[in-house]
Amino acid sequence: MAASRRAFVLRHTHLRPVPGLEEVRLHLADEVLHVWSAVQIETDDPDAALPYWAFAWGGGLAIGRYLRENPGAVAGRRVFDVASGSGLCAIAAMHAGAAQATGADIDAFAAAAIELNARANGRRVTVVCRDVLDEEPPDVDVILAGDCWYEACLAGRVLPWLQRARGRGIDVLVGDPGRRYLPTEELVELASYDVRTTTELEDLERKQGWVYAVRSAGGSASSQGRK
Ligand SMILES: C[S@@+](CC[C@H](N)C(=O)[O-])C[C@H]1O[C@@H](n2cnc3c(N)ncnc32)[C@H](O)[C@@H]1O
Repeated sequence: MAASRRAFVLRHTHLRPVPGLEEVRLHLADEVLHVWSAVQIETDDPDAALPYWAFAWGGGLAIGRYLRENPGAVAGRRVFDVASGSGLCAIAAMHAGAAQATGADIDAFAAAAIELNARANGRRVTVVCRDVLDEEPPDVDVILAGDCWYEACLAGRVLPWLQRARGRGIDVLVGDPGRRYLPTEELVELASYDVRTTTELEDLERKQGWVYAVRSAGGSASSQGRK
């Protein structure tokens, strides 16, 4: 099964440098609807998830840029990339010198993409394919959350989980291009970048992508950020 998903990812994407983050190469698609309908046919599931894994999203691109500028945020540390999609944030963290990185996503095609993309970048990324938001936060130093606030259900679950992690002393970096459900009052802005996405996904080809630290529930975000 995993091998056929890897073959599917390879069949529907091209390996190319990520715009604005050229040191990272990902298997990316050009057309979302074409790949989505192929996923629906492959899985025999008309409700199959959008192929998020076939694109580099604005939030992940902002985190990638931030880690390039601030490698000390992850260097020598254990990193967990939640809602990993293509694995972009985990791979960017490894490029920045992370000791180890894990990419977690609920989509089995994302798991295949993370594996392929890590390999294409000569990086080791552990892949977790399950919903970790019902679990306690992992035993890591840094959690990266790129573009998780695009729908209400995920948005409502991910913030308390990240705050729990923050309460345990784990650094949390959120990347987001201003999505509807982003809880800005719970975040502290660290940086913003002009990121290049695609009109396949967004209204504009260039978006502003912000990177934030997360306040722990009732607490501060002051120990996070640039190292
Ligand atoms: C918009 S994409 C962002 C991908 C990547 N972080 C980036 O910025 O390019 C959101 C990802 O969240 C994943 N996702 C949704 N619910 C999730 C959950 N409960 N746990 C882990 N991943 C989840 C989706 O499958 C999708 O790959």
